[in-house]
Amino acid sequence: MYNEAEGATMTNGKTATLAGLRYFIRTFGCQMNENDSEHMAGVLVQAGARPADSPESCDILIVNTCAVRKKSEEKLYSYLGRLATLKKKRPGLVIGIAGCVAEIHQAELFGRKPGPDFLIGPDRYQDLARVVAQASRARSLETGRDGLWHEFGPEAVIRESPVSGYVTIMEGCDNFCAYCVVPFARGREKYRPLPNIVREVEDLARRGYLEVQLLGQNVNSYRDPETGRPFAALLKAVAAVEGPSWLRFITSHPKNFTNETIEAMGGSPKVCRELHLPLQSGSTAVLERMNRGYSRDLYLDLVRRLRRALPGLSLSTDIIVGFPGETEEDHRATLDVLREVRFANIFSFRYSPRPLTAAARLADDVPADVKARRLVEVQALQKSIQLELHRSFIGRILTVLVLGPSKKGGRLLAGRSEGHQVVNFVPAVEDVGRFAQVCVTSAGPYSLRGEEALTA
Ligand code: 5AD
Ligand code: SF4
Repeated sequence: MYNEAEGATMTNGKTATLAGLRYFIRTFGCQMNENDSEHMAGVLVQAGARPADSPESCDILIVNTCAVRKKSEEKLYSYLGRLATLKKKRPGLVIGIAGCVAEIHQAELFGRKPGPDFLIGPDRYQDLARVVAQASRARSLETGRDGLWHEFGPEAVIRESPVSGYVTIMEGCDNFCAYCVVPFARGREKYRPLPNIVREVEDLARRGYLEVQLLGQNVNSYRDPETGRPFAALLKAVAAVEGPSWLRFITSHPKNFTNETIEAMGGSPKVCRELHLPLQSGSTAVLERMNRGYSRDLYLDLVRRLRRALPGLSLSTDIIVGFPGETEEDHRATLDVLREVRFANIFSFRYSPRPLTAAARLADDVPADVKARRLVEVQALQKSIQLELHRSFIGRILTVLVLGPSKKGGRLLAGRSEGHQVVNFVPAVEDVGRFAQVCVTSAGPYSLRGEEALTA
């Protein structure tokens, strides 16, 4: 499919090695992966490729993978099975696997029949156009890490949303939580220079973005590589950029959350009163075995300090049930913390052993049916808490960032409140990409419903 004759020089001076080709990227996993896919799309477009609407109509198909839980990997392998059928029909199609699974399961993926045409790890995306061009001639493997920060210029990002923009501030993780594969798949922490982050935010501001979300596996340990300035200084610098009204960041680690960061959040009305603060377990004994670096009391104390400084703060969290050795008492401790904190949202998972991790050496000794029951209990309790919280919003007017049509259909639009709740509402005007004042009329456990309040 690669045709030298098609190479042409683009306005940016780069050679359009992929001119005339169409790409499709399927993304699994977290916001970090979504942002990586936006970078990959940017690199492909700079090389002359154009987006395709579906896997059936593309020449280059990239699967951006997630290895964080066994379930995410299983979904990936079933997707790859479907792609094998597509490849049989269209042998010229170039299929590549990117992301965490490409990094940690290289041999296994390359050994599949038919295997992918290329594998590319998270540290190599700036070389994607060359790798794609090569892969049409010979299978290629581009993984491994050099420990350096790789900057993508603002022009090398094709953003999914015209309203809310992701900005990556750091990569990798040094924490080695016992269950987590991320430090092996993404490597050690490396930080993006603060001026580059501010420039990207200014670029988003110029293009009319209303919300900026700072991304990293562990944002609180951010340090500007030049000056050593911490995350709190970055937050202040980004909040000072005129334009975007809302600023969020994800993911925070409770053990690295400083008072300075709490003050920086409180000091700017732009920083949304919303925070994702993974707890994982409410039992100090389990947290210790997980190597999380905080106890239940420390976590609860942090929540109290945050809520004191940021009234109305909406908190969300991650919970793992059935970590090795988790007793009924440990499980009840987790339920107790859910009752005490009253999170606005949680993401809850059954523990699954991951390759290379410390916990993979422990016996996975909580039986599958016990894990399943504990997960149901966590989710049922959380559902009732969310329903109560959401009902308390009925009759109130919320500011909502309007993101697009609602999944509920009809004329409804959907957006997010400052607390990150999904709000489906009857609009007064059809436009998206704006803030609306919405009067909440009803509430379910997972979303709010309302009507746009008419402003004078
Ligand atoms: N098993 C279950 N859940 C896991 N997570 C990470 N690793 C595992 C694992 N081995 C969950 C954690 C993390 C979220 C992104 O995924 O809760 O915060
Ligand atoms: Fe994984 Fe822990 Fe790092 Fe989060 S902080 S990415 S859970 S090792």
